Amino acid sequence: IVEKYMDELLSINVIYEKKLIESMKYSVQAGGKRLRPILFLETIKLLNKNPFDFIEIACAIEMIHTYSLIHDDLPAMDNDSLRRGKPTNHVVFGEATAILAGDGLLNLAHEIMIAFVSKKLTKNNINGINIISKAAGINGMIAGQAVDIESEGKSIDIDTMKFIHSNKTGALIRSSVLLAAYTADDLPEKQLNQLDHYAKCLGLAFQVQDDILDIESDTQTLGKTRGADAAAGKPTYPSIIGMSAAKRKLDELYLEAVAALEGLNAPLL
Ligand code: IPE
Ligand code: IPE
Ligand code: MG
Ligand code: MG
Ligand code: MG
Repeated sequence: IVEKYMDELLSINVIYEKKLIESMKYSVQAGGKRLRPILFLETIKLLNKNPFDFIEIACAIEMIHTYSLIHDDLPAMDNDSLRRGKPTNHVVFGEATAILAGDGLLNLAHEIMIAFVSKKLTKNNINGINIISKAAGINGMIAGQAVDIESEGKSIDIDTMKFIHSNKTGALIRSSVLLAAYTADDLPEKQLNQLDHYAKCLGLAFQVQDDILDIESDTQTLGKTRGADAAAGKPTYPSIIGMSAAKRKLDELYLEAVAALEGLNAPLL
């Protein structure tokens, strides 16, 4: 459903900037697990609300995520040539267009979210949108990406590693759940905190798993080049604490995430 709606949002008729729109569509339509919109919509359902009322927001979140992947793959960042099983955006369209396609998706996401809150103007909707903007921003994903790049080829401690992962990946995953929780005006603080703690653990766990898969999976399954982290000299959970400790950490985070959901049976409201 999200994919269909994103196609509509990206059916933009233009005369001059056809290549830009084509390149935005290329990465959005390349596939991907759609984890963040699913988390968002499932949380909406948990709150006994109609997910169809929030599809645009789910699309906006996936657009922000896709922008982050396009930029993450650029030669100046991770310099990757395979993503979602296809050549990366800059390989197909060139670096300048890939940069602009990322910018375009990020901005379009905010246009969509602002249009949504203008239609449904509630304090919680405004707070919710603010959560996503902040999570994607300089105290969230962008901060994580900045420290990730600065740390290449260096040895960093586990706290710095946790900062990178919680921000570059964890922040958007966490905010996908938290934004949904905020749309419910009457959700008690205890339950809001439970969902937040769940999503925080899940977000960090997701990147620890990504680090592990970069070593143990294969290019075909990943849809991206295996071993890219080691080749770039990136510190990762396995490179800092070792593979078995990284897997233990992953299990711990997983169990902590599940435990945080204790007592939250659908529908909550
Ligand atoms: C990839 O995210 C980038 C990371 C945060 C590890 P996903 O693994 O969710 O990528 P897609 O959306 O399924 O392609
Ligand atoms: C990506 O982390 C995080 C963001 C895109 C914000 P990685 O660089 O580990 O993701 P992959 O492995 O390229 O998907
Ligand atoms: Mg990266
Ligand atoms: Mg990368
Ligand atoms: Mg990775």
